[in-house]
Amino acid sequence: MIFSTLAKRTFTSTAFNPYKVTVLGACGGIGQPLSLLMKLNDKVTDLRLYDIKNAKGVATDISHIPTNSKVTGFSAEESDGLNNALKDTDLVLIPAGVPRKPGMTRDDLFNINAGIVYDLATAAAKNSPNAAILVISNPVNSTVPIVAEVFKKNGVYNSKKLFGVTTLDSIRSSRFISEIVNTNPTKEKINVIGGHSGITIIPLLSQTKYGSTLTKEQKDSLIHRIQFGGDEVVKAKNGGGSATLSMAQAGAKFANAVLSGFAGEKNVIQPSYVDSPLYKNEGIEFFASPVTLGPDGIQEIHPIGEINAEENELLKECKETLKKNIDKGIKFADSRK
Ligand code: NAI
Repeated sequence: MIFSTLAKRTFTSTAFNPYKVTVLGACGGIGQPLSLLMKLNDKVTDLRLYDIKNAKGVATDISHIPTNSKVTGFSAEESDGLNNALKDTDLVLIPAGVPRKPGMTRDDLFNINAGIVYDLATAAAKNSPNAAILVISNPVNSTVPIVAEVFKKNGVYNSKKLFGVTTLDSIRSSRFISEIVNTNPTKEKINVIGGHSGITIIPLLSQTKYGSTLTKEQKDSLIHRIQFGGDEVVKAKNGGGSATLSMAQAGAKFANAVLSGFAGEKNVIQPSYVDSPLYKNEGIEFFASPVTLGPDGIQEIHPIGEINAEENELLKECKETLKKNIDKGIKFADSRK
């Protein structure tokens, strides 16, 4: 009796949230823990893991975890591996590519990752044109515009379903501020806008109560730490890559938010780097700000809110860099015509 009640409940939740999720680059430093976290997400019923090699091993390992989803591995070694991983999926996470080594900026990754993202986006446009595409591969400021161009070329671009994952900047902000003011990081929230690299990352401290309580030195050093927090990890890993575990948590959190929006949950708001109207009149096509997520993807893109004079200066510099990063992505995609 108890068993049948439980079984019924499980069945009900499965039927309500039957989402297919594909991870491209699933065997990497981010890909593996991200795939694990998506296996633990009860909104997912069909998890497809793709990589150039070893995806079947990772998939078999994860598949033994007793949650709702079935897990399948696809590799570049099989004909149609990529196409089958993407066929009619609902959400695609892209952590494929190379990470930074000490001394490298995210922009240094462009030459390799732009081509990888271009090819994966082309396959997604053909096999899963209605899926939400969540881009993790750096430089996000440029790789997101590349995906947009690829979808446009294939006549299937839907700006409401394309996201650059900037969640790591937000979770770092929560953690780093809590270390200064000695609070519970799960309760701290800072609005981080702009882009996802160095000076394009703008945490709006003036919108928190700490804007008026921290000293200028504390604020400057916190802003710098949030902007360049990734460098701490790259340096500490000493050639072994960049953030992977914290990034996996951030990616899984954002993917869950998108799926929650699909499922009709209300007030699902997360920051993301998206095709945004906010600064289009200044030639900036993509910008990160809080976004409300709904059944069709982006429901509303929120403005950045009030900012102070210092933040306005940061925003000016951010826009100059973003514009260059976006143009670089678009030019690359055009060159592949
Ligand atoms: P990694 O090298 O550990 O893993 C990358 C994976 O991608 C490997 O398994 C590799 O086989 C796979 N891959 C390469 N080419 C592929 C292709 N054509 N198709 C499918 N899979 C392919 O790198 P890691 O540390 O997982 O980082 C991945 C990317 O994520 C990097 O570009 C990194 O800069 C970026 N990143 C983004 C962050 C963000 O906040 N958005 C934070 C940290 C890293």
